[in-house]
Parts: sequence; structure tokens; C-alpha cells
Amino acid sequence: MNQMNCDISAVLFDEYRIQTRIREIGLEISNEYQDRKPILIGILKGGFIFLADLVRSISIPVEVDFLAISSYGAGTSSSGVVKIRKDIDLDISGRDVIVVEDIVDSGLSLQYIKDYLWQHKPSSLRTCVLLDKPEAHKIEVHFDYVGFEVQNEFVVGYGLDFAETYRNLPYIGILKEELYQ
Ligand code: IMP
Ligand code: MG
Repeated sequence: MNQMNCDISAVLFDEYRIQTRIREIGLEISNEYQDRKPILIGILKGGFIFLADLVRSISIPVEVDFLAISSYGAGTSSSGVVKIRKDIDLDISGRDVIVVEDIVDSGLSLQYIKDYLWQHKPSSLRTCVLLDKPEAHKIEVHFDYVGFEVQNEFVVGYGLDFAETYRNLPYIGILKEELYQ
């Protein structure tokens, strides 16, 4: 028995549902980028598991890079302050880029990332997010591929953390409120 399970009030998406949805997105990307070789940029840390599974569901050649940002500190609400902790290594100018992010909450991080990457002059820039919290958006933010919508609750697992813990849960669940209030 995984002791972290006790901290979860409800499982929203189990491993099977996540993998099924990722295969669908992988197929879409494979079809839409045929004869191209996109660079997938995983946003660390939350996007690392999603990226790892997504690339294996894509059947065309891709390149992979990472951008590490921080926006939250150890809390559960967006500060709106985004910092780059690790820059990309590949030259993305003139390339097709797909940003792979764990979750869109306020939308501030994704907007910041998009603005930042456009400065490197990619020929196209799309965004793929595993989870979207529509009720939490603070700005109008566009993304191209989305796994699932979630309510305005704090979720963990499958890469998403609370104070760096729970990323290794194989499912996505709601963290019990008493653990962060
Ligand atoms: P935003 O800038 O408010 O959209 O926040 C985006 C980042 O905050 C995400 O990339 C996550 O890393 C983190 N985040 C937002 N909501 C949650 C959540 O419910 N659980 C865990 N991390 C979250
Ligand atoms: Mg993130």
C-alpha cells in the first residue's frame, strides 16, 4: 500500500485514462507534424512524466529539450512571478516547437513561456497541456492540445507536486485540503 494514497481525497484520472488520452494526443501530433521534426520542450519539473509518456506515443521523429521555471514556491496559489531556472539547450529558431506543460492554472506561466520562446524565433509554437483549470485562469491563454479539464482544486500526482512531494503517484488526484491549509 502506497502511504501517499492516504493524503488523496479522490482519484480524478487513473493510469489507464491518462495513457489512453496521451495515445490520442500522440496520434494527433504524429498526423499533424508528418514530414516535420518538432522539438518538444518539457516544462520542468511538473511536465517530466507527461513528456516522457507523450514522446513514446508519437510515431514521427522528434527532438526533446527542457525549460525549467518556477512560479509557486512551496504554496498552492500562483504568485504570478515566473523565473527561468534552466534555459533550453537546442537552437529553436526556424523550428516547429511544442511546449509540454503539466497544468494551466492562472495561465501566467504558460503565457510567460510562450512570450519567452517566441523571442527565439521558432517557425511555429504550439502548446500541449495535460490539465486545464478553466475557472482559475487570470488571463486569456490559448493552448493547442489539452488532456483533461479539472475543477479549481489542488491536484497532485503524475509529475504534479505539493511542496515537491507526490510527483511519483501514477495517477492524478485531489490533495486533502487539511494538508495545505
Ligand atoms: P499558473 O502560472 O498559475 O498557470 O500555474 C502553472 C504552474 O503551477 C503549473 O505548471 C504547475 O507546476 C503549478 N500548479 C498549478 N496548479 C497546480 C495544482 O493543482 N497542482 C500542482 N501544481 C499546480
Ligand atoms: Mg508546471
